[in-house]
Amino acid sequence: MVQLTLPKNSRMTTGKTWPRPEGANNLRKVQIYRWNPDDGQNPRLDTYFVDMDSCGPMVLDALIKIKNEIDPTLTFRRSCREGICGSCAMNIDGINTLACIYGMDEIKGDIKIYPLPHMPVVKDLIPDLTHFYAQHASIMPWLETKTNRPAKEWKQSIADRKKLDGLYECVMCASCSTSCPSYWWNGDRYLGPAALLHAYRWIIDSRDEATGERLDDLEDPFKLYRCHTIMNCAKTCPKGLNPAAAIAHIKKMMVERSV
Ligand code: SF4
Ligand code: FES
Repeated sequence: MVQLTLPKNSRMTTGKTWPRPEGANNLRKVQIYRWNPDDGQNPRLDTYFVDMDSCGPMVLDALIKIKNEIDPTLTFRRSCREGICGSCAMNIDGINTLACIYGMDEIKGDIKIYPLPHMPVVKDLIPDLTHFYAQHASIMPWLETKTNRPAKEWKQSIADRKKLDGLYECVMCASCSTSCPSYWWNGDRYLGPAALLHAYRWIIDSRDEATGERLDDLEDPFKLYRCHTIMNCAKTCPKGLNPAAAIAHIKKMMVERSV
C-alpha cells in the first residue's frame, strides 16, 4: 500500500531458516528483519514457521509465539496489545502499522516484518525514536495558559471539545512520520506528520493561550512547509487519523493571520 523501504542500516544478508515445528500442519512462514548492534554482522532476514492452530490472529501474537517458543533473542516493543500504547509499530507486509491490531488474515502469502523505515535501528524491530520524541516535545504538547488558574478546572464547551476529535486519539506510534518521504529526507528539520498533528491539537484547544507563539514557532521553511501533501501519513495511520488535514489547517491559519 504505502511503501516498502528498509531501515537505515539495511545491507541485508541471508538469514537463518528455523526448523518447522514438529507435528504442525497449519503453518505460516514469517520472515523477520534481524540486526544486533553487538555482533558486528550485517542485518539479515530470518525465516520462522508458526503453527497457526496454536497462535492468536494478530501479527503480535506470532511475534510473541516465536519469541516464547522458537527464538528468545528476537527483540521488539509491545505493551498494551490493544492499539493504545503505540509501542508495537513496525512495517508489516509493506505497511507501517501496529502489530497488535493487524490480523495475519489480512496478509496474502508469507509475512514479512521490518522495523519502521528510514529510522536508525536499536535492535531487530526496534527503531530509535529519540529524535521523534524530541520533535514531539518541541511543539509544547501541553496546555499553555497565562491567566490565573481557575479554582476547579479549565472549562471547555462541548463544541470546542469536539474540535479535538481525530487528534487526541494519536498514540504516537510514528507510523505516519516514518511513511512520509519528506520526513525521510528532511526529518532533521521537518517536524513530520505526528508532531504537527499534535501541534494542531494544542493550537485549536479553546483553553490554550499560546496560539500565537505556537504558530510563530512553526513559521519556518522546514518545520511545517516541508509537508507536500503526499498523504502517506493518512493512508497508513493505524488509528484512522489524518495528520495531513491537521497540517493543512495549520497552513491555512498561517495565511489567515498574515492578511
Ligand atoms: S497520527 Fe496515527 S500514525 Fe501518526 S503517530 Fe498518531 S496514531 Fe501513529
Ligand atoms: S502493543 Fe500497544 S499498540 Fe500494540
